[in-house]
Amino acid sequence: MIILGLSGAVFHDPSAALFIDGKLVAAVEEERFTRDKHAKGRFPHESTRFCLEQAGIKPSDVDVVAFPYAKIDLFNKARWHYALRHWYAPDRALTALFNGNRRYRRNIRQAMRLLDDTGIDSKRVRFVPVEHHLAHASSAYHLSGFKEKTAIVTIDGKGEYTTTMFAYGERGRIHKIKEFHDPDSLGGLYGALTEYLGFDMLDGEFKVMGMAPYGDPNRFDLSRLIKYDNCSYKVNTKLTNVIGMRRYKENDKGYFFSPQLVKWLGPKRHGDAIDDPYIDYAASIQQLLEKVAIGLIDHYLGDIIKETGKICFAGGVALNVKLNQRIIDMPHVKELFVQPAASDAGTAIGAATYVAMQEGESVEKMEHVYLGPSYTTQQCMDACRAHEHNPAWELLEDVPARAADIIANGNPVAWFQGRMEFGPRALGNRSILGDPGHKGVADRINKKIKYRERWRPFCPSMLDRVATDILQTDHPSPYMTFTFDVADKWKSHIPEVVHEDGTARAQVVTRDTNPRYYQLIEELEKRTGNAVILNTSLNRRGEPMVCSPTDALNMFYGSDLEYLIMEDILVTKEDMHG
Ligand SMILES: [Fe+2]
Repeated sequence: MIILGLSGAVFHDPSAALFIDGKLVAAVEEERFTRDKHAKGRFPHESTRFCLEQAGIKPSDVDVVAFPYAKIDLFNKARWHYALRHWYAPDRALTALFNGNRRYRRNIRQAMRLLDDTGIDSKRVRFVPVEHHLAHASSAYHLSGFKEKTAIVTIDGKGEYTTTMFAYGERGRIHKIKEFHDPDSLGGLYGALTEYLGFDMLDGEFKVMGMAPYGDPNRFDLSRLIKYDNCSYKVNTKLTNVIGMRRYKENDKGYFFSPQLVKWLGPKRHGDAIDDPYIDYAASIQQLLEKVAIGLIDHYLGDIIKETGKICFAGGVALNVKLNQRIIDMPHVKELFVQPAASDAGTAIGAATYVAMQEGESVEKMEHVYLGPSYTTQQCMDACRAHEHNPAWELLEDVPARAADIIANGNPVAWFQGRMEFGPRALGNRSILGDPGHKGVADRINKKIKYRERWRPFCPSMLDRVATDILQTDHPSPYMTFTFDVADKWKSHIPEVVHEDGTARAQVVTRDTNPRYYQLIEELEKRTGNAVILNTSLNRRGEPMVCSPTDALNMFYGSDLEYLIMEDILVTKEDMHG
C-alpha cells in the first residue's frame, strides 16, 4: 500500500512523507524548496512532487493520503474547555462552540487543491484525517521500533484543541490516557516567553533553551505563570497564551503575552545585547517547563515506565533537548525515543504511520533521516558552471581525507553529501563542519558564517566507538535530540562543542547509516586524536537548511566560508578553475 502523509495543518512546517508497504521512502519539508523558513501558510506541493519522483511512482499510484488534523465533535470537551477559558474574548469562545471546525474545513480545501494540483486526484484517492496529537504520538511510537508497552507523550503549541497528551502504545495501538486543551499549553507558554525574550515563536525556543544555562533559575519565581498541582495544570491567561484584546502590542504586532506580564517582568527584550534580567528569566522558564513536564509524565506514565522503561516523545516541545535529558534521567527510564522531526513537519510521518497501522501494515523502525533529495557529482559541477560567481572547483580522489586535512587545519568546511536530512538537524549531509578541539572555530563560524546569536551552542558528531566514553552512557543518540553530560577528561579535547553547563547535544554516527561521514570522522581522528567533529547545519541565520547544489553555492558566496565540498568536488574561492 502506498500512503502519502501531509503536514501543514497548523499553518507552519508543511512537509510530505511517503510510505510504501510500511517503509518510509521519502520525506521532506516544504521550506527547503521554497527557501522561506517554516514555509508559513503554505501546503506541501513541492514536497509531494518530490516524494513521488523519489519513489519513482505516478500520482495515480497513491492509495491513501493521511492528514494530521481531524474534525472535533461539538460534544468533545475540548471545544467547551476552549470556550470557557476564553470568556474574555467572546467572539473566539463562540466560534469554538458554533463553528469549531472552521480550520479543519479550510485545511481540507487546501489539501484537496494540493491533491488535484499534483495529479493525485482528490476524487479518486482515499483521504484520511488523523487527530493532530495522535499523529504526533504515532510519529514517535510507530517509528521507535519499541515492541514492549511504551509510554507516549506529545507536547506542542496546539493541534485542533489539544496541547498535551499522555498515552501508551501496546501491540501497535495507541491508547489515550489524558489530554490537556488550549489555552493550557506548555508549548504556548514557552513560546510566549520566547517572544517576550525577543525571539520568534516556533524558532527562538532553541535560543531560550541555549540562554538558560547562563542564567540563575532561582533568582525569579515565575510560578504564577502556571498553576500546577501534580496531575493537572492551568496556564495563567492573564499573563500568557492570550488572544485578542489581552495581547501586548508593539508596532502593530500582537504577542502571546499581556501588558500585565510586562508590568510584572519589565519591558520586552530587544536586540541581542541585553542580558540582565533576561537570561535569568530564560533559566526560570526552562526550569518551570522541566518541572511541570517531568511531574506530569511521572504522574500519568510512571507505572508504564516502571514496567518497561520505554518512552516516546513528539511535538515541538520534544525538540527541547534539556527536557529530554531530564526524561532520560528519570528513574526507570531505559530508553527515550524522540522522532527527530518532532515538530509539525513530523506529523506527515505520524498521520501516514497511524493509517498504515490501522490498515494492518507493519511500519519499519526509523534508522536514519536521509530522506530528502540527493544530487550527483555531475549535477554539482553543472550547478557550478551555471552559477553567477563562476566557482573554481577540483575533483577530489579521496574526499574524506581531503576534508579532514582542511578541517584539522582549523578551517570550517561546508559539507554537502547524499540525501538531505528530514527534520531540523543536520546530521552530516548538509552540514558546516569544524575541528572541535581547535580553539575559536565555533566563534569563527558564529561571527562570520552563520551570524547566529551567541546563545546557540555548537554540537558534536562522534563515532559510535567513542560515544560511551565521552557521553558516559549507552543511551542511543542518532539524531541530536538529547544532551548528555560530557566526561571531564573529554572537555578539554573538544571544548568547542561542550555547552556552558558541561553538556553536549550529540549525534552518534554509525558506519551503516552514513559511511562517508563516518570515514571523514575517522580521518579527522587520525589527524587530531579525537573521533569527534563539530557539526552545524548548512544555512545562515534565519534561512532553511540548504537543499540543492545551487542553494549551497548561494550560501557559500553569501558567507565567509572558504571551502565547500559537494559530493566529490571541492569548491574554493581562489581562482583555479577546474
Ligand atoms: Fe503539533
